[in-house]
Amino acid sequence: MTASPKIYFAPFQGITTHLFREVYARHFSGVDKLFTPYFSNFEVGCKLPLKQMTALKNQSENGVEVVPQVLSKSAGEILWLAKCCEELGFKELNWNLGCPYPQVAKKKRGSGLLPYPEMVDEILEKVFREINIAFSIKCRLGYASADELDALIPVFNRFSISELTLHARIGKQLYSGQPDLDAFAEAISLIKAPLAYNGDIFTPEDWHHFSERYPSIQLLMLGRGILRNPFLPAQIKGLALPDNPQAIVYQFVDELYHAIRHQRNDNPSVLNAMKEYWSYLCEFFDEPLRVFRKIRKSKNFRDFEEAVADIFDSLYHRQFLI
Ligand SMILES: Cc1cc2nc3c(=O)[nH]c(=O)nc-3n(C[C@H](O)[C@H](O)[C@H](O)COP(=O)(O)O)c2cc1C
Repeated sequence: MTASPKIYFAPFQGITTHLFREVYARHFSGVDKLFTPYFSNFEVGCKLPLKQMTALKNQSENGVEVVPQVLSKSAGEILWLAKCCEELGFKELNWNLGCPYPQVAKKKRGSGLLPYPEMVDEILEKVFREINIAFSIKCRLGYASADELDALIPVFNRFSISELTLHARIGKQLYSGQPDLDAFAEAISLIKAPLAYNGDIFTPEDWHHFSERYPSIQLLMLGRGILRNPFLPAQIKGLALPDNPQAIVYQFVDELYHAIRHQRNDNPSVLNAMKEYWSYLCEFFDEPLRVFRKIRKSKNFRDFEEAVADIFDSLYHRQFLI
């Protein structure tokens, strides 16, 4: 029997919005921190725009701490957001050194900064001189090669980074291929900051195998695993699950849908947002492709509502993957 880890809900740009975090935390247990998708392109010295203020409205959701994330290669920008977050009552800011998308990486942002340890060092030097809240990092093993981590670890170790989450892939992989557990394992004893693992933990069994192999890792960031199965954190922690999991998931998606419709004044873009989330949630059902096909086909709100009702009615008595 392995000890249960602290579990962090990974950020997903466009999905884990403040509404999503709020509705999720009301229905499901087991998560210890919720990370916001990254903030970028804000003007230093100016009040944060309304959209970003709204996204930073709550410092916790149903008792679960929210951690804002920044994507930047400018110490000035990072410190500015840190100051705004401090004033709003947040305790931690997370730095995104993991975003793999070429349009971001080629500007030396996200995982695109990993091949430049001297730049990372310079930024951290300036940030740690002034920051008043905890500063954590989410990164990958490197951008083009996992060897890049060798030069980054001594840089990270010079600063009191509150936690370091390592997604065990390189940037160039995007989300394909397997996490490189050997490279992750090499880093475990070398990194001074508390280390969180991230990458492809989709079931409680995945976690049990992982933690048997790496028992010292007690911080776990889950991403697509939670999008696919919102009960995953509770299952990993061995918490009691409701007798009617599918009804809880139904309530959750129904509330989320209506909240997003309300926020966007019934703009048709709501359908795209819901379809994106359902591209993960369909895995909760035992016929994911069939489920997603129903959702994908919907052209308007009525179609969508009928598809959701149909999925929960017709699949209600089938075996759920929990
Ligand atoms: C659509 C999408 C959006 C994402 N947005 C962010 C983001 O804003 N910040 C971040 O650090 N990671 C982001 N990620 C990466 C996830 O947080 C996570 O690290 C990744 O999915 C690997 O974890 P998993 O295997 O548990 O899903 C995103 C991933 C996807 C697929």
